[in-house]
Amino acid sequence: MRTQVAIIGAGPAGLLLAHLLRRAGVESVVLETRSQEYVAARIRAGILEQSSVDLLTAAGLGDRLHAEGHPHRGIHLQWPGERHHLDFVDLTGRSVWVYGQTEVQKDLVDANTATVVYEVSDVALHDLTGSPHVTYTSADGTPGRVDAAAIAGCDGSFGPSRASVPGQTWERTYPYSWLGILADVAPSTDELIYAWHPDGFALHSMRSPTVSRLYLQVPNGTDAGSWSDQRVWDELATRLGHGQDGWKLTPGPITEKSVLPMRSFVQTPMRHGRLFLAGDAAHIVPPTGAKGLNLAIADVALLAPALTALLRHNDPTLADRYSDTASRRVWRCTHFSWWMTTMLHIGEDPFDAQLQLSQLRWVTSSEAGAAGLAENYAGLPIGF
Ligand code: APR
Ligand code: PHB
Repeated sequence: MRTQVAIIGAGPAGLLLAHLLRRAGVESVVLETRSQEYVAARIRAGILEQSSVDLLTAAGLGDRLHAEGHPHRGIHLQWPGERHHLDFVDLTGRSVWVYGQTEVQKDLVDANTATVVYEVSDVALHDLTGSPHVTYTSADGTPGRVDAAAIAGCDGSFGPSRASVPGQTWERTYPYSWLGILADVAPSTDELIYAWHPDGFALHSMRSPTVSRLYLQVPNGTDAGSWSDQRVWDELATRLGHGQDGWKLTPGPITEKSVLPMRSFVQTPMRHGRLFLAGDAAHIVPPTGAKGLNLAIADVALLAPALTALLRHNDPTLADRYSDTASRRVWRCTHFSWWMTTMLHIGEDPFDAQLQLSQLRWVTSSEAGAAGLAENYAGLPIGF
């Protein structure tokens, strides 16, 4: 078949790109290895920056987000004996929203604007500087081919698109992981708590008034099954400061438990010929700054108008700038995610721990320090 843009991957990057292109009058076909149910059920990030909310709203995807999402003014940062609230609205005029990636994905599927072929295999990209096309095998075993004027690689960190772009990669692995749980219990906090603790970092997040999402720093290679529910709640209570100034952590039934590795990865350029990378296909951030989903949305917010100008008006200006413009934001978020991660996680060296505490005291007591964190967390404007 022939279309204007072949999109590889039906995660938030791929589906949002298809949606924005359709609204701009550009046709696309999305190829996805997994089933629609699998993609819809994946538990991922949960925080949207103001600019992501603005973009989704302008794209006609904001109804449920505004009805069911929760705007937060900021976050709590804490270490033993102290908890401080950083108010992003006061500091930067911008807020963040609690609205799960699962919900964003559902809104995109419900919008029904993308033509998606699910459960394909053997996806391969061809002739990226000539007549671009993608070959695949469909679920029933028949071979398929999509010819397109451009290809968008939105296939996450394990897809084939990344390897088709010659360029440079940068990588940092971290000596710890997160054990994440989802629990059917009301959050014990109004806004997220990021906790530094000698036993390791902990984060109290949430998905709704009845569902909490919490994380514990654990050593790499940890088996989630080796942590009983009781042990998880005990450790969360210790690290999040149960009892401190009367604050209580309420435990509840755990519905999901998994271990997430932490990695920073950047590949540039984000373009080769007629192939453009967006989202996790081009970059991975550790989750501490809540940037992964927002970066994918920001990439696509730049890529959709660039492809529209290229394919509808034969104007390559934005497409030629795409990689440089997107990479600037990618590096800002890569730095911020690394900075939040290294400020909050416990390593081997007691010298580092003192530096972390000093940094935390500065960020929570100096308006300049707080504003820097707030500006990055609440998000810089797309294309800054
Ligand atoms: N062919 C087609 N699709 C593929 C292939 C392939 N060979 N390989 C992977 N995919 C699909 C995956 O199954 C997945 O559905 O590409 C999709 C990529 O989606 P995501 O991993 O969600 O990546 P992205 O859309 O860039 O969104 C980034 O996801 O990992 C989180 O923190 C990250 O929140 C951020 C968001
Ligand atoms: C989440 O709710 O999953 C979440 C929130 C904030 C983070 C990371 C993950 O920094």
